[in-house]
Amino acid sequence: MSTKIVMDCDPGHDDAMAILLALASPELELVGVTTVAGNQTLDKTTRNALITLEIAGRSDVPVAAGADRPLRRELRTAAHVHGETGLDGPELPEPSAAPVDAHAADFLAELIEPGVVLVPTAPLTNVALMLERHPDVRGRLAHIVWMGGSIAEGNVTPAAEFNSFGDPEAAAAVFASGIPITMIGLDVTHKALFTRADADELRDSGRVGRFVAELSDFFQLFHERSYRFDGAPIHDAMAVAHVIDPTLVTTEHVNVAVETSSEYCDGRTVVDLRGVSGREPNADVGVDVDAPRFLDLLVSRLASLP
Ligand code: RIB
Ligand code: CA
Repeated sequence: MSTKIVMDCDPGHDDAMAILLALASPELELVGVTTVAGNQTLDKTTRNALITLEIAGRSDVPVAAGADRPLRRELRTAAHVHGETGLDGPELPEPSAAPVDAHAADFLAELIEPGVVLVPTAPLTNVALMLERHPDVRGRLAHIVWMGGSIAEGNVTPAAEFNSFGDPEAAAAVFASGIPITMIGLDVTHKALFTRADADELRDSGRVGRFVAELSDFFQLFHERSYRFDGAPIHDAMAVAHVIDPTLVTTEHVNVAVETSSEYCDGRTVVDLRGVSGREPNADVGVDVDAPRFLDLLVSRLASLP
């Protein structure tokens, strides 16, 4: 019996690979994709989600576009990481499918039935809007697995990770919602680097493999330059992998609070690993990962696509 998931994303190289991992995994059924502004503007992240599904031959999976900016702040994209298209590297076909005629916040509420896992891999604007517009969802959304946040260093600022910094108010609302949430943050995603050798293993495996290899060729450039990494963390794919196999990432049940009014730390996920704050635990936070097993899963599943 497979687990139904809905992804809310901002493709984005690693979002695209996460979508493909979900499609390649018999443990999961990807019942819908919603998009939000983040890595690039909403029009681009939506087009990129349609392109990714098309390349995998899965334009049957519905896509709904959502927020084109954060709840209360200006949009700050990441062209320096993902390029002007948001999926720089491969040649991008014109998608034949179009998004459904519904806002992501409403479409998410429609898709979320008991047992469906929500996997956001972007700023949480759509998820916060869904909870505002459809409070009844709380009664049937059993689990959120979010790629975002960090226990230690941020990436877009020294204090904050991009998806959390992208909409701190939205992240704060989701962590305060009482819905069980697993946070897959930079502390674990940076431990598993997708290398050129992994890309080369996929390059001739088919249309999807070539697409992923060319995405990786571009995505690695930022990480080599900025972190001197020999490879790139495929952040969002680790959130999907956690639904496939929860033994890959070790988590701790702790309190996570999100900073929303600081000069230097806006968007920081304040993770209370030792319980010193007295705040009730409200999340399962990734503290370690079996990197080789995760990467083997990712590469082998992507290689299985046409
Ligand atoms: O910080 C990494 C996260 O921000 C990933 O989800 C990446 O796609 C960007 O959205
Ligand atoms: Ca993302």
